[in-house]
Amino acid sequence: MERLQKVIAHSGYCSRRKAEELIVAGNVFVNGEKVTELGTKVSSSDDIVINGQALSKEDLVYYVLYKPEGYVSTTSDEKNRRTVLDLVPSDKRVYPVGRLDYDTSGVLLITNDGTFTNQMTSPHKGIEKEYVAKVEGFVRKNESAQLRRGIEIDGYKTKPAFVKNVTYTKKNETSIVTLIITEGKYHQVKKMFEAIGHPVLSLKRTRFGMVTVEGMKKGEIRRLKPYELKQLKEQVKS
Ligand code: URA
Repeated sequence: MERLQKVIAHSGYCSRRKAEELIVAGNVFVNGEKVTELGTKVSSSDDIVINGQALSKEDLVYYVLYKPEGYVSTTSDEKNRRTVLDLVPSDKRVYPVGRLDYDTSGVLLITNDGTFTNQMTSPHKGIEKEYVAKVEGFVRKNESAQLRRGIEIDGYKTKPAFVKNVTYTKKNETSIVTLIITEGKYHQVKKMFEAIGHPVLSLKRTRFGMVTVEGMKKGEIRRLKPYELKQLKEQVKS
């Protein structure tokens, strides 16, 4: 859901300021009802009519980016670092669905569909996110069991996670662990491993729902396939 004046401005109809004037003056209707309140939130499925003319909706686009390390996943960065949007060929106002850390690589969805973004990032919808983490030390069975059960981070108990593979390399005393979670708290995976005494050395998201970056190179971007989009949308319905 986004503010009505922002949606109008993003459609290219007029500036945000002008949109605010039109709303207050009673020239804007949402799903047939006059709206004069500036804070009103609308979704991409709402019909917006201004001065009797339907607001044309910008085509919705959905991408998957194989995010490389060394990019922030915000739309702008106060430190002037490269952002994932530098890798997007679209001239539409797109943004990332949730975030991956600057030093995390892997699957990142990018879209201009606000409703879809909210659904995908809601912890209640339980979309699976799979990560492969290289961590310090040997992760013991009882430690992965802690991750499975849920673990306290910042006063919050994580939802049960699924730990798939643990392989230990004696030479450099590191473990590679595949972890599946359904939430997306800030630095969640790093904090979960930190909590069991195994700091993360590198992190890659290998799957978001059913979407992967298999066959893609780091920095490459592609449109989501219709069946991938359908699967993601169906998952949030069920
Ligand atoms: N968890 C993290 O700690 N970092 C990420 O980038 C994603 C999940």
